[in-house]
Amino acid sequence: MEVNEEATEKQTKMWNSFSKTYEDSFENITIQSSVILYSLTKAKKFSKICEVGVGCGLASRMFIANIMKKGAFYFCSDFSDEMNRIYYEHFQECDTAFNPKVKLEWIKDSEAINVTKKAEDMGEDIEKKLFLHQANNEKLPYPDESFDLYLSSLSLMLVDNYMNQLKEAYRVLEKGGVAGFTVHGKPENCNYLSFVPDVIKSLGHEIPPATTKPITHLCDKDSLHTDLTNVGFTIIKTFYTNINMLFDDVMILFDSLIKSPILKNLVDNLTEDQKEELFVEMKKQWEIKYGPETTEVQEWQILVCIVTK
Ligand SMILES: C[S@@+](CC[C@H](N)C(=O)[O-])C[C@H]1O[C@@H](n2cnc3c(N)ncnc32)[C@H](O)[C@@H]1O
Repeated sequence: MEVNEEATEKQTKMWNSFSKTYEDSFENITIQSSVILYSLTKAKKFSKICEVGVGCGLASRMFIANIMKKGAFYFCSDFSDEMNRIYYEHFQECDTAFNPKVKLEWIKDSEAINVTKKAEDMGEDIEKKLFLHQANNEKLPYPDESFDLYLSSLSLMLVDNYMNQLKEAYRVLEKGGVAGFTVHGKPENCNYLSFVPDVIKSLGHEIPPATTKPITHLCDKDSLHTDLTNVGFTIIKTFYTNINMLFDDVMILFDSLIKSPILKNLVDNLTEDQKEELFVEMKKQWEIKYGPETTEVQEWQILVCIVTK
């Protein structure tokens, strides 16, 4: 499997620096995507679970405490060490961490992980065996057919080569195993992404050319269906749904977007005066469209894929 290490290193750095903002502004929203996956893959019945691009762990903690079955093991990973650090810190503080029958090991040397041995070594007394480590979704450190469930909430569209991730998902799953992916839906149904650029354009400014592929590049249901079939998955269910946002203030959205790996360079071309004008205009348009007097929310469509090997 050819992995572009240079591109991955650059993306890892971006996600490291975005991790705190992600935790503050986004994980409370994306928990909706994770819950869809836990629910529709029927995650509660699986015993050998892997979750990639796990982020800072709000959804994961909920999964471990309330959905994961006793006797199961769960390997979760992210290529960002900062995300892993936040994940680990929060896990230590949550109630589940005080249950002596639940244990989390942060694997620091994650070149090659012998999943079965790791789980065995944790001991028979542990009812929920948890492992966290750094890994690129495109190249997982696990032996073939290690898991019966694979989960990926909102990371497939971010990796450098998403076909690598799909192939890895297929490889690490045993026959009959289930995988669940979510990705961004159609751009016209993600107005949280277009609101700020639209205001910038309405003021007559240019949007700088994107430095990364659009985050919605996997939004076509039929294309993704074909890709999943080509990789070897059989029962393939794909559908669109929404995980809308309900921010109280446009500046929360704005601050998050300009720090994000996706729209980072949005205001790079603007002078300080132009930025001031933009803030005033954004607040005005936000109030009209999404203020307390309206029932509108910011739309975020996702595409959900539940597949079987
Ligand atoms: C949009 S966040 C989703 C986090 C979490 N799954 C959620 O739903 O809130 C994307 C996550 O994927 C991670 N990520 C992006 N590209 C990755 C890659 N190639 N390999 C591993 N993780 C990656 C980022 O560090 C980030 O934590």
